[in-house]
Amino acid sequence: MDLGSSPWQNQPVEAFESTARLAADRAGSILKRRWHEHGRVDVKSSAIDLVTDVDRACEAAILDVICSTFPDHAVLAEESGARGEHEFLWLVDPLDGTTNFAHGYPQVAISVALRRGLQTVLGVVYDPIREELFVARRGGGAFLNDRPLRVSSTASLASSLLASGFPYDRREHAVFYLSFFEAFMLRTQGIRRAGSAALDLCWVAAGRVDGFWEWKLKPWDTAAGALLVEEAGGRVSDFRGGRFDAFGEQTLASNGWIHEEMLELIGPLL
Ligand code: IPD
Ligand code: CA
Ligand code: CA
Repeated sequence: MDLGSSPWQNQPVEAFESTARLAADRAGSILKRRWHEHGRVDVKSSAIDLVTDVDRACEAAILDVICSTFPDHAVLAEESGARGEHEFLWLVDPLDGTTNFAHGYPQVAISVALRRGLQTVLGVVYDPIREELFVARRGGGAFLNDRPLRVSSTASLASSLLASGFPYDRREHAVFYLSFFEAFMLRTQGIRRAGSAALDLCWVAAGRVDGFWEWKLKPWDTAAGALLVEEAGGRVSDFRGGRFDAFGEQTLASNGWIHEEMLELIGPLL
């Protein structure tokens, strides 16, 4: 193996992955245990951007695992922000789907990604309700509960099922975001808005949906899931077909076959 071109370059890949798996598992246990007693619900950027005591408890458990194993690494976590500077950066969404969780709607996930420089090299997304663990290593494939994943083979938008979501400023820009929803609604077999972007991406990787788009997601929402899609044979880009940037505003993911059609439909709306 040419270690010079590997994203890992002699780093202990297995240790990174087992740390991410352990962190996700700890948070998953908290989520399940407290499913019916989430405690206080507060608001963040707007009245519809929620955070619960369980988001914070899950994040503390995840950071405890990561920081005790790799104390030098940098971390960017949704609820507590950034800490440290290092070529390795952990991106943590302790509870993706907080609105679902606060309402008892069982579509939630824990998302943990590891970046090296500008590349996401590891992605772990755990759905504790279905006990589905999605794992991808850059260059090493994508897996669901240790079985290889492959995107769907749906070849046209007309035959596709898509997933999407709306950002937290949707009340201010409803018409704009709905223009995308309307355009896809008229050209596909359906759209699902399930409320966890990390799982939406993993479900593209698993071939359960054929494509996904969303505005203004955060790097902790997308980094792990985007790697899953790529490693399962799909494509992730911005809305003009350019390189996907987890820190950017546009996420377009697909099985690859319908990507150009999705770009053509989005283009005029931008
Ligand atoms: C949200 C979910 C949702 C998406 C929002 C995200 P959160 O994450 O992924 O599906 O539509 O844009 O912010 O706040 O529940 O971690
Ligand atoms: Ca999220
Ligand atoms: Ca979250």
